[in-house]
Amino acid sequence: MQEKIKDLEKKIAEAHKGGGEKRIEAQHEKNKLTARERIHFLMDEGSFEEIGMFVTHRSNNFGLDKNKPLGDGVVTGYGTINGRLTYVFAQDFTVMGGSLAEAHAEKIVKIMDMAMKNGAPLIGLNDSGGARIQEGVVSLGGYADIFYRNTQASGVIPQLSAIMGPCAGGAVYSPALTDFIMMVEKTSYMFVTGPNVVKTVTHEEVTSEELGGASTHATKSGVTHFTYANEIECINGLKKLLSYVPQNCEEEPPAIDYKPGNEVREKLNNIIPDNPNQPYDIREVIEGTVDSDSFHEVHKDFAENIVVGFARIAGRSIGIVANQPAFLAGVLDINSSAKGARFVRFCDAFNIPLLVFEDVPGFLPGTDQEWNAIITNGAKLLYAFSEATVPRVTVITRKAYGGAYDVMNSKHIGADMNFAWPSAEIAVMGAKGAAEIIFKKEIQAADDKEAKLKEKEEEYAEMFANPYNAAARGYVDEVIRPDQTREKLIKAFKMLENKVDTLPKKKHGNIPL
Ligand code: HXC
Repeated sequence: MQEKIKDLEKKIAEAHKGGGEKRIEAQHEKNKLTARERIHFLMDEGSFEEIGMFVTHRSNNFGLDKNKPLGDGVVTGYGTINGRLTYVFAQDFTVMGGSLAEAHAEKIVKIMDMAMKNGAPLIGLNDSGGARIQEGVVSLGGYADIFYRNTQASGVIPQLSAIMGPCAGGAVYSPALTDFIMMVEKTSYMFVTGPNVVKTVTHEEVTSEELGGASTHATKSGVTHFTYANEIECINGLKKLLSYVPQNCEEEPPAIDYKPGNEVREKLNNIIPDNPNQPYDIREVIEGTVDSDSFHEVHKDFAENIVVGFARIAGRSIGIVANQPAFLAGVLDINSSAKGARFVRFCDAFNIPLLVFEDVPGFLPGTDQEWNAIITNGAKLLYAFSEATVPRVTVITRKAYGGAYDVMNSKHIGADMNFAWPSAEIAVMGAKGAAEIIFKKEIQAADDKEAKLKEKEEEYAEMFANPYNAAARGYVDEVIRPDQTREKLIKAFKMLENKVDTLPKKKHGNIPL
């Protein structure tokens, strides 16, 4: 027996050495950790249990029979993060560039199936040269097996992807099918076709970083939801994100202890400028309302005219969607609608109540928006709110104009409680535009056209630039002082704690994609 135990220990040591000292050094030189180091920092100490350490590939193509590394370039298993069960796979770039083929994919598939059956989140730490070229179609099949499971698991368990190295070709589609993507600056990239192919096909000269680096995907494409300066920050980001979400769609999000205190927030009375066209930062309203230091912004650098993120109110997780008057006046456009819609659907899938702060002058006009389908994209946000069955509360801080009033979680599309601040203006459009249209003839006939326009503008503003018409019809449940907002929200979400709402029986809806 002793001999057999020694033999086992030898094999474990061999698996742990990955692609060998030199390749581990090369990884470190690139400011990258190894797969096992990443797992070490991610999981609670001593909690990680590896599965499939001795799996090897079965290919003899192109000399692979002489190179059968234990584990086949991916470390898979389960453990806990802050005491909660989590499944993880980490691709090992030191072994054949972390390339994915039959056995490598089977290991990932195995833990995906386990995560689904046992209702716990799945984290993928991606660092791979893509499909293992020597193994041919089984590599492609392996990817498709993963894509299929990503889709089946969508909305059942949270799936998070951290990109910590190359991620190219069709390989990008597994992360894209998961709920959140994080990228590490300077050491990770994602693209469907790399710079060489781009040059051949379109004659564009572009570096990997420009084409698909973290900053590109955070600001231009919106593919990544978070970027981090280094891998440790990224790993901490994964842990933080998990702290807001439940283990699966059957559970409630975790709550933390909260001691009730003075909930009046006087600072909120002084954020909205007197001039309705002057911007302010909606983050001040969010941070002034939710539990201290609990706001965790998602997709921060993309479509900045809408702010989305997780927070806690009285210790309970909520998802926030807020127009941002400090960027493009908080207008809704294609990117902000899609960004908002995706976040709303994640929260709804995982029982996270939604809080909306609304200050929106309408949809962005122009050929660019119309030709690129603001109609279809705006409808995404409308659809996402309309189908959400979680508790939903809106606070109108200032403008709620036009179709955007309907879209931003109005009572008409199923919001549970809608509050408005006295500064709210709920109307079909802004006073100037409205006066120009409905008093056109009167203005044209006037000797002093400008004075007439001003007079009519004021008349319209007097009638509609307030929350009371909407409150009189019950479209707004209560007009509140800003400093009362936190207290009102705590009570509203408490009241909605056991909300039950269902959608009509259907196979699935058809969101305007
Ligand atoms: C087999 C691979 C590999 C791959 C890298 N390696 N990618 N082996 N299949 N796809 C191996 C290398 O041969 C090398 O082995 C080791 O990994 C490290 O790679 P290097 O090139 O030395 O590292 P580096 O200079 O850092 O470059 C990394 C890289 C480059 C940019 C990722 O290796 C690369 O371009 N690889 C090919 C990428 C690619 O085209 N993949 C297919 C994408 S298409 P040795 O033994 O020499 O150290 C795809 C389709 C998916 O993935 C379809 C899903 C539907």
